[in-house]
Amino acid sequence: MPLLQVRDLVVRFDTGEGSVHAVNGVSYDLEAGETLGVVGESGSGKSVHVLSMLGLIPMPPGRIAGGSVLFEGRDLLKLSDRELRRLRGREIGMIFQDPMTSLNPVLSVKTQITEALVTHRLMSRNAANKRAVELLDLVGIPDPHKRVMQYPHQFSGGMRQRVMIAIGIACEPKLLIADEPTTALDVTVQGQVLDLMRDLKKKLGMAMIWITHDMGVVAGIADTVQVMYGGRIMERGPVRAVFKDTRNAYTWGLLRSLPDHEMPLPKDGERAAIPDEPAERQRLVQIPGSPPDMFNPPKGDPFAPRNIYATERCRQEVPPLLPAPDGAAGHLVAAWYDLRTQREHTA
Ligand SMILES: Nc1ncnc2c1ncn2[C@@H]1O[C@H](COP(=O)(O)OP(=O)(O)OP(=O)(O)O)[C@@H](O)[C@H]1O
Ligand SMILES: [Mg+2]
Repeated sequence: MPLLQVRDLVVRFDTGEGSVHAVNGVSYDLEAGETLGVVGESGSGKSVHVLSMLGLIPMPPGRIAGGSVLFEGRDLLKLSDRELRRLRGREIGMIFQDPMTSLNPVLSVKTQITEALVTHRLMSRNAANKRAVELLDLVGIPDPHKRVMQYPHQFSGGMRQRVMIAIGIACEPKLLIADEPTTALDVTVQGQVLDLMRDLKKKLGMAMIWITHDMGVVAGIADTVQVMYGGRIMERGPVRAVFKDTRNAYTWGLLRSLPDHEMPLPKDGERAAIPDEPAERQRLVQIPGSPPDMFNPPKGDPFAPRNIYATERCRQEVPPLLPAPDGAAGHLVAAWYDLRTQREHTA
């Protein structure tokens, strides 16, 4: 049984101006130990889809309009607030983008780490204090005995992010969810944090959901990549397959928007090229057009209005997420027009 089974998740925000269609039928499985990278432009539903599973969207205006999220067979959407609180931190760890707002400025790092261990793991104070030092050491904070007594403002941005990671993994969760945890960091520190996460993943064997704008980060850390747009999954599969054998025009746009020297290509591979595409188009650094109006999402494929390959069917009907024709195992795509075969599906 997969660790996490998300089925037809639909999330809305009912606001004064109308209902925001934030997540529109998201389904996927995550295996134990698997690292999933979730990418997509701003507003594509990356954060809301994970926050809603954990009971962390404000309700109202938020509302889970449908679906189920089975974690080891238990539907998270049916748990009480109390059960969810217990689950978060104990079985599912979280790291968010901004450690300054997520860490409590008036509590020492020791207090913040041990709190999780004492409440969730029922550890004694002494054992928890000892473990806090071990955790700081594990996440690569030098001089952990001294540092553990300090307060968040005494740490640099990169070190604060490491403290967040220490808290996120303190209870050895089966699943760690990280939402843009390295975005605020400079490139060198970002690289160090990614190395650390790869290392921890090996040591602890936990599954991860890693939300990011950065395809390079995905290439560096994920087993599977999931591309989201308009609250839907556009393409999903092993990183190599999605990067090398791209089927969805939106995925292609995201990859193409990276300057070539930053292309996170597997060393022995080439990106699938679209034949006959004018050279100047290949050099475009932004996907033209703007994201869909989430109050009134388009009737068909949400990317159709920006997609030069869109057919009439794309504008009329939402394409289902199906195995990519002749694709790698687990490579799924939602598109009526297949970039590799350059053909409209007939199914
Ligand atoms: N509290 C809220 N009230 C109303 N709408 C919301 C709320 N939170 C999120 N949304 C809307 O839900 C949609 C999905 O937002 P989400 O935060 O999941 O995007 P994202 O993919 O994480 O974007 P980013 O990359 O900017 O973090 C957006 O249209 C957003 O405006
Ligand atoms: Mg987000």
